[in-house]
Amino acid sequence: MKNINLVILFSGNGSNMENLINSLHSQEYFLKDTQEKAKIQISCAVTNNPNAYGISRCEALGINCEILPHKDFDCREDFDVALIDLLKNYQPDAVILAGFMRILSPIFTSTIRSINIHPSLLPKHKGSNAIKDTYESDDEFGGVSVHWVNEILDGGEIILQDYIPKIAGESLEEFENRIHQLEYALYPNAILKALNLTQVIKNG
Ligand code: GAR
Repeated sequence: MKNINLVILFSGNGSNMENLINSLHSQEYFLKDTQEKAKIQISCAVTNNPNAYGISRCEALGINCEILPHKDFDCREDFDVALIDLLKNYQPDAVILAGFMRILSPIFTSTIRSINIHPSLLPKHKGSNAIKDTYESDDEFGGVSVHWVNEILDGGEIILQDYIPKIAGESLEEFENRIHQLEYALYPNAILKALNLTQVIKNG
């Protein structure tokens, strides 16, 4: 059995992280190419925010959580070097960004293979206010994109996208909730696709 080791990065609420842990951690799959069995292990979560609500989600789920405050570092690159060093302790096959609200420098993106979720139909509405920007736009649809991370913010190759129609009269909060539900459905499947995994064997 091959072990596939993932580390999740988050900054705040951590609902996508919790969903990924509940959906993927300790689950068994087949590798599409070889039909070899593979088990996903989420060995750790890392946050840059010591006050993140997601830290208590990790405690409740029994997942080790490392806190690396970006405020302890003089510049983005120094933080990224420390983050890379921390991640090396876990030897992840891939790093999963789930509401990690830091721009990553090329030092990180050229070293670490990582996947991000963004709450818009990229390339539309990049940046940190994607849901509100979509809500306030003339777009007929909102959506979610999962993509490989490269040096361009929200710019890497798309793995999977899905969309919902906007509903006339809907509040921003209602629209936001529907986007989050879409995220919870899409992200685990997108990660399996990216890692070339298929078909759950058993629930562990
Ligand atoms: C999610 O909607 C995620 O897509 C978004 O932050 C939220 C985090 O919520 N990420 C970005 O906007 C990245 N540019 P969560 O902490 O409850 O998962």
